[in-house]
Amino acid sequence: MSGVKIIGLLCNWCSYAGADMAGTARMKQPAALRVVRLPCTGRVNPLLVLKAFQEGADGVLVSGCHPGDCHYNEGNYYARRRLELLAAMLPALGIEPERFRYTWVSASEGARWTEVVEEFTGRVEALGPRDGGAA
Ligand code: FES
Repeated sequence: MSGVKIIGLLCNWCSYAGADMAGTARMKQPAALRVVRLPCTGRVNPLLVLKAFQEGADGVLVSGCHPGDCHYNEGNYYARRRLELLAAMLPALGIEPERFRYTWVSASEGARWTEVVEEFTGRVEALGPRDGGAA
């Protein structure tokens, strides 16, 4: 047990369904992950990510529909712009950029979801828990 806490912000229509599919298929998923189900990644305000870090998350993973597949047409395009800016700001806020990732996983990609979350969890575990205080 690593002791790290990871928050996953998942859009309902693609990534949450993909994670659900992985669970239904009994694919192993790291216990460190806590999933928050959102209507769309377009709803992810970067401040929500920073708040997760402030409240004790060691890593934050945002995942939604692939570009072109957003249930609300453009939500993930807005998300991509905002989250790129956030990623660029993290070092200045004292947060290692490796603790944050955004990606796209569709409802049929349960296996890909498992790979993404395992890779990210491994990366955060290698960094260890955050000291806190930043952001
Ligand atoms: Fe999935 Fe917009 S509905 S990213």
